[in-house]
Amino acid sequence: MEVSTKIERISAADVARIRQDFPLLAQKMNGKPIVFLDSAASSQKPNKVIDAVSDYYRKLHANVHRGVYQLSQDATAAFEVGREKARAFINAASSSEVIFVRGATEGINLVASSFGRKFLRQGDEVVVTAMEHHSNIVPWQLICEEKGAFLRVAPINDAGELIMSEFEKLLNDKTRIVAATYVSNALGTVNPVAEIVALAHARGIPVLVDGAQAAPHMKMDVQQLDIDFLAFSGHKMFGPTGIGVLYGKEKWLNAMPPYHGGGEMIKSVTFEKTTYAELPHKFEAGTPDISGVIGLAAAIDYIQEIGQDAIAQYENELLAYATSRLKEVEGIRFIGTARYKASVVSFIVEGTHPYDVGAILDKLGIAVRTGHHCTQPLMDRFGIPGTVRASLAFYNTHDDIDRLVEGVKKAVSMLR
Ligand code: ALA
Repeated sequence: MEVSTKIERISAADVARIRQDFPLLAQKMNGKPIVFLDSAASSQKPNKVIDAVSDYYRKLHANVHRGVYQLSQDATAAFEVGREKARAFINAASSSEVIFVRGATEGINLVASSFGRKFLRQGDEVVVTAMEHHSNIVPWQLICEEKGAFLRVAPINDAGELIMSEFEKLLNDKTRIVAATYVSNALGTVNPVAEIVALAHARGIPVLVDGAQAAPHMKMDVQQLDIDFLAFSGHKMFGPTGIGVLYGKEKWLNAMPPYHGGGEMIKSVTFEKTTYAELPHKFEAGTPDISGVIGLAAAIDYIQEIGQDAIAQYENELLAYATSRLKEVEGIRFIGTARYKASVVSFIVEGTHPYDVGAILDKLGIAVRTGHHCTQPLMDRFGIPGTVRASLAFYNTHDDIDRLVEGVKKAVSMLR
């Protein structure tokens, strides 16, 4: 059953109803009803998204922006409705600021490459934070290496919070851009994005925000936060894999060179000179992921039907419950104890390796992620090889948490 009215406060009965929308959650893993606690890696999909993608291929598929015939025009209209929904989801001023990409990783690579080619010079600096995912480190390293620029890293404290005074000290007249995550995938820390933007803008420095982990859990208003670039992935917010959004302020996107060349992104081509299409098409070379956009639009509808405030409130309560119950595990050390967190509890248990704990949980039907979570420098900061990470979505229940806690206790008793 699809959720049809906005929920004020998500109750256990609402979650039971929501879970029926997610066919995979009814499955077993290793013979046990699955407890899916790896939504930060990729969330599960509701029927609304699965049906939207399947209906598109059954009834509407044709290439977009190309055909004079009705079917192509209908596919184009559905695709552009998706862009409008993505615009409204982040409250961008214009849909021409919404570029469809494969995911947050491609969005960040686009900015690092295109902005970097245009604006980075030898000796310039790019500021990131110590809690970035590799996808918000490596693209900057690549362009810094090419341009002779330097990566500067804003440190965090032991709780996994950005040290704002140290961040501010890194900003200077050589800083060309700040790239920071909204929510840490490994720690769950919610960064003070508005403050980061205010400090950077006071010095005329633009800010890119990696919104991959924020998109499923909280409202992101690019105008209110005054973000210059925002990247996020569809598959972490109940949409299909292979689709994501890069938001960029028009003034920056217009000033930046194309990222990929090909069809769709041109105004005219001769062997002597090519001119480029207007935004957003300038950055969308080739046939786009049409079904991905349609699935993403269905995911946005689904999230909004439940209500982002209700989602945030429910997940915060569930996170608090998970954290307090996991404290029962003897020798547990939480990695990431920031005051403001979203939907991630990461931990290690004395005398055990995260991988072994994860492998035992798997046998009990519990899916968690173990390892460095694509944040090796962050793990180095804490002096550990990795963690066990349970990440939540609104379809998780208190029972899921109880099974996790019992599973971790069992794993620990077997491993010690
Ligand atoms: N970035 C994803 C995660 O944190 C894959 O698991």
